[in-house]
Amino acid sequence: MTAGQFLSHCSADALRQAAQQLKAGALVAFPTETVYGLGADATNPDSVARIYAVKNRPADHPLIVHVSDLSDLAEWADDIPEFAIALAREYWPGPMTLILKRSSLAQNFITGGQNSVGIRIPNHPIALALLEEFKKIGGKGVAAPSANRFGHVSPTTSDAVAEELTEFLATGDLILDGGASQVGVESTIIDCTGEAPRILRPGAITEAMIVSTTKSVVTQEGEKIRVSGSLENHYAPAAQVLLNIEPHSGDGFIALSSIATPAGVTRLAAPKSNEEFAQVLYEALRSADHKNLARVVVHEPTGEDIAVAIRDRLKRASQGR
Ligand code: TXA
Ligand code: MG
Repeated sequence: MTAGQFLSHCSADALRQAAQQLKAGALVAFPTETVYGLGADATNPDSVARIYAVKNRPADHPLIVHVSDLSDLAEWADDIPEFAIALAREYWPGPMTLILKRSSLAQNFITGGQNSVGIRIPNHPIALALLEEFKKIGGKGVAAPSANRFGHVSPTTSDAVAEELTEFLATGDLILDGGASQVGVESTIIDCTGEAPRILRPGAITEAMIVSTTKSVVTQEGEKIRVSGSLENHYAPAAQVLLNIEPHSGDGFIALSSIATPAGVTRLAAPKSNEEFAQVLYEALRSADHKNLARVVVHEPTGEDIAVAIRDRLKRASQGR
């Protein structure tokens, strides 16, 4: 097996092999509906340490544990509040991560030393099949951050994973191909350790959806929790990202299709809806780098749907340089 071997035909056999590799301590990058994840056995400290090394991620940034079934939740979390169970029933499998009080299974090397743990059931057939195969051979859960180097744009295709990580992967590690991610931006992270759900990172599960399920107010205050995506200059391509200005000739340009392409600029994406905007955004930012563009101008979508997540990521992509 070569380093970071690519599996593009995810047959049942291939997925069994990938689950065995995870159990043996290897890293397996896999597709989810949000972005691709870089997976490791969430109970294996050495494998999890390799995630941090491959990503060049600071060790105190916690990881999300991915499981395949609601019944797995009780293994990883204690004292789960009713509103979290309501959210889980409504939106899992799906683009939502719940932060819950950790059980003893969730050790410091997963939680970054915090008393809470992030859990998600992804909605992607390959991810779910991999998680189920892993469970059949005794696996408890798969820790998986987005499969990019720390601070970079998250990958939404297996080619983007290979571009980010191949040189850092080892013999036995795998990259599973499952096509382009449908959602395109990372999951909504909801802190469920307080009285009411609190959004730590916006995503496809919107504030309105959370309120409609839990009937409780989504408060925004509270102590600061470490969320790596909340650092400045995250989700960033090499090109400089500029928001809502008139592009110069030679700039890359991303905007809804209703906005015409200014003369002399390279149109990188023209999505027809906010959902499509999210789906194509990260590939469009990557393509700016492939074309060696110095700057990419993005006209942000408006609205309170997934546009909130798009604006959140773009703000960070454009900051701190
Ligand atoms: O859509 C997603 O969530 C993707 C796919 C692969 O599932 N994963 C992802 O993981 O975006 P990552 O590690 O790139 O971002 C997860 C964020 C990090 O910013 C981390 O700090 C935060 O979740 N997080 C994880 N556990 C946490 C916890 N216990 N408390 C607060 N934040 C936590
Ligand atoms: Mg990430």
